[in-house]
Amino acid sequence: MSLVFQLRGGGASLVVDARGDGVPVVLHWGADLGELTESDLTQLAEALVPAVPPSSIDIPQRLSLLPLPSQGWTGRPGLEARRLEREAADARAMRWPKLSLVDAQLLKHGNPRGGGLQLTMEDAAAGIVIGSELLLDRHGVLSLRHTCTNVAGSPLEVTSLSVIMPLSTEATELLDFGGRWPRERRPQRQAVSEGIWSRENRTGRTGHDSAFVTAAGSASFGFREGRVWATHVEWSGNQEVWVESRLSGHRLIGAGELLGSGEIVLGSGESYATPWVSTVFSAEGLDGISSTWQATVRDRRAAAGRSLGPRPVVLNTWEAVYFDHNLNTLTRLADAAAEVGVERFVLDDGWFLGRRNDRAGLGDWVVDPAVWPQGLHPLIEHVTGAGMEFGLWVEPEMVNLDSELAREHPEWILGGQGIPIPWRFQHVLDLSRPDAYAHVRDALVALLNEYPISYLKWDHNRDLIEGDVHAQTLAVYRMMDELRDLFGQLEIESCASGGARVDLGILERTDRVWASDTNDALERQSIQRWTGLLLPPELVGSHLGGPSAHTTGRSHRLSFRMITALFAHAGIEWDLTKTSKEERALIAEWIAVYKRFRGLLHSGVTVRADDSTSAGAADDLWVHGVLNGDGSEGLFAAVAMSAAPSAERRPLRIPGLISDAMYRVERIAIGGEPMIVGDVVPPWWAHGQVSLRGSVLGMVGLPLPPLVPEEACLVRVVKE
Ligand code: DGJ
Repeated sequence: MSLVFQLRGGGASLVVDARGDGVPVVLHWGADLGELTESDLTQLAEALVPAVPPSSIDIPQRLSLLPLPSQGWTGRPGLEARRLEREAADARAMRWPKLSLVDAQLLKHGNPRGGGLQLTMEDAAAGIVIGSELLLDRHGVLSLRHTCTNVAGSPLEVTSLSVIMPLSTEATELLDFGGRWPRERRPQRQAVSEGIWSRENRTGRTGHDSAFVTAAGSASFGFREGRVWATHVEWSGNQEVWVESRLSGHRLIGAGELLGSGEIVLGSGESYATPWVSTVFSAEGLDGISSTWQATVRDRRAAAGRSLGPRPVVLNTWEAVYFDHNLNTLTRLADAAAEVGVERFVLDDGWFLGRRNDRAGLGDWVVDPAVWPQGLHPLIEHVTGAGMEFGLWVEPEMVNLDSELAREHPEWILGGQGIPIPWRFQHVLDLSRPDAYAHVRDALVALLNEYPISYLKWDHNRDLIEGDVHAQTLAVYRMMDELRDLFGQLEIESCASGGARVDLGILERTDRVWASDTNDALERQSIQRWTGLLLPPELVGSHLGGPSAHTTGRSHRLSFRMITALFAHAGIEWDLTKTSKEERALIAEWIAVYKRFRGLLHSGVTVRADDSTSAGAADDLWVHGVLNGDGSEGLFAAVAMSAAPSAERRPLRIPGLISDAMYRVERIAIGGEPMIVGDVVPPWWAHGQVSLRGSVLGMVGLPLPPLVPEEACLVRVVKE
């Protein structure tokens, strides 16, 4: 068998040189090279051996999968670990580990992550074995992780173990994300330059300012053009991602868990596995990245038996009533929800013991008899009687000092020394303690046994500043897994003060993310567009809020708010009992449109047709939509993000259609007609539809009426 391996999938190839006994080297990660023979692969490996430049180590420097000083590597190492007993014979060797390859095996497909390569390396003197898995699925997502096992007798502390992949020197620009509450996933763009660009998340959860996806690409890469390599860490705790570039020609991306002091101490025979690091290559810009990841996420859900079907319309009570819970108000809200076509009613924060505001109650997961003398039964019976499912908000990892739980078990509060600084008046429960874990799990199980709850909105409203984040993250994963095993149909939404826990680790055990606490449609356009780089729209919650956004005070017309929430798992977060009859009729029409198109929206391919790949970009008309698998039908939104810089905006172009097919373009008004400037509209718009070839729609486009800023219109394209 050749010891140069090629993996192929989804238009990408990975070639790994595992000849000799050194740590294997990635020779190529990018465009597919076709099926290479054994001799092609060997020739490729030999041809790519670099020169030895002056003033350098005397062997060709190749970036290995786990670069270490013992290989001559002077960049950030892939592994850092130490023996706690400094006198142990292996302690010195562990300071400068030297890994040798002992095994390389091809793995067959059969894992939802695809087939691939399993490598085993060891350093017998240091007493460690490293296992590396590289799996490539049929869409082109490459998943990588390392496992470090302590095979010596003394304890070993692992302080970092990261996945490192070479980047092409063609990748000269970076796109990643920052953010804050409620402005998650704000893009930032910059040139790759000499040194290390490093993003560290120490918030104890994925974070509002998470790097989320780090994309490195060719100059000016955009949605539909450029070669792009993108990386995401599938983990909901602390993490780091960095890009390192050196004039010597090495360029790489590293990613993994950011380990805290003392978090990973391995006894003899124990192992630490890194989170999976997911990477995607696209030769066709960021749309290629999102279509690949979205397809993979859907496949993984199907393999896990969690394909969810049409996503029900939600009504969430938060911005409608906040903490003001009472049966009368909420049954009236449920009636109004059922009347417009809502399918799932979610009771948010405020239902449990002592929870009249955000200063008390967390930890006491029993229904407050002062507000609900007959429990939640009358409300749930009302909701289900009206044909809706019932969902409930919980925040299982948290505790208020003003709670029965904190009074009884102050020692369960996660912290370093004593009680840490509060955040939203709350603290974290140390779920790595079996007693605390069992208490919370049992309380949730009791609720789920007593009530027909089909959905939990699982919130997480503070950073973990002190405490063992690694153990806490694993405990939360375990609790969600346990609940889903016990209650097979239970769906869970991942919320963390909005979108601070959006990652593929949490999505292995949840079914929706609350992308942000903002229902401001303008903010949402950006948040959803970038969340969609990784996630398909059916997993991203988006709600129709009231006319004035609670988080920003901005006012938007109904049509703009509706079109924004349509391209997601749609819901409502608005006190419908205070809306007019006319408004409720428009909401019912919008829900009918959502129900008509959700099959397409929740299975198709996301397409963006504008140049706004960075914050503050000049393109004021955003165009995004979803095309079905064979390109015969699509639903698109054209969104005026700001005032047009000139009198006329560019036309609406719809890429991705079959070039020589004829399409009918129909405009669909929801929430009333979009507001425009002036009263003369293009003839096709006045007519309501037009037929054109796919090539014409993709390259020439159609004129739109001048939408006022922060307004949108909706069009359907269908092959004739
Ligand atoms: C933060 C969430 O993101 C909101 O949607 C809401 O559930 C509140 N927490 C409740 O406290």
